[in-house]
Amino acid sequence: MGNNNILENDIKEVLLSEEELDSITTRLGQQISKDYEGKKLILVSVLKGSVVFMGDLMRKITIPCCIDFMSVSSYGNSTHSTGVVKIIKDLDTNVIEGSNLLIVEDILDSGRTLSYLKDILERRRPESIRICTLLDKPDRRAKDVTIKPDYVGSTIPDAFVVGYGLDFAEFYRNLPFVGIVKDEAVKRIKKEIEELEKD
Ligand code: IMP
Ligand code: MG
Repeated sequence: MGNNNILENDIKEVLLSEEELDSITTRLGQQISKDYEGKKLILVSVLKGSVVFMGDLMRKITIPCCIDFMSVSSYGNSTHSTGVVKIIKDLDTNVIEGSNLLIVEDILDSGRTLSYLKDILERRRPESIRICTLLDKPDRRAKDVTIKPDYVGSTIPDAFVVGYGLDFAEFYRNLPFVGIVKDEAVKRIKKEIEELEKD
């Protein structure tokens, strides 16, 4: 991590380096290629957090597959998801019957968003539906949520992380690693947002 980068200066700890992320996507890509051999596979990326992970993961998958995107917004505030999600952008594919869906997510936190999404997609009768998440924070799982990821890049402690697609107030998605933001940066950004809302 260089010292003269404006974004990197806001990070207090790197949780997953570029090299570690590369070996994670390699491992998951190999496993997925093996598990889905001979099957019709559609990778479903949940926008926007999973785009970087999706881009790397799909290039480590060596069997034929299709990709599609969904965008959902959860009702509730930024730190507490209620689990009721609104579909902002649905899949383009409507030939889900007979397909094996693999939902590609950035992070499993309370698990509410994915539970809801999985329910919606299950009603469309795919052959199978599984979840591949880059990060899992099992300590944060809501008590009433039973969802379990089928593929996990890394299990992490209960901290707010950014980078490699993950954001804080839409910033930091373009960092090439996963890290924890300094408290002072969180405060600064929150203040900037407040100022903007005043105008
Ligand atoms: P859940 O419904 O609580 O599991 O919410 C999952 C979503 O919240 C993820 O897809 C992220 O968009 C966001 N999220 C949860 N934890 C973090 C974090 O540590 N950093 C950035 N985004 C997070
Ligand atoms: Mg997300």
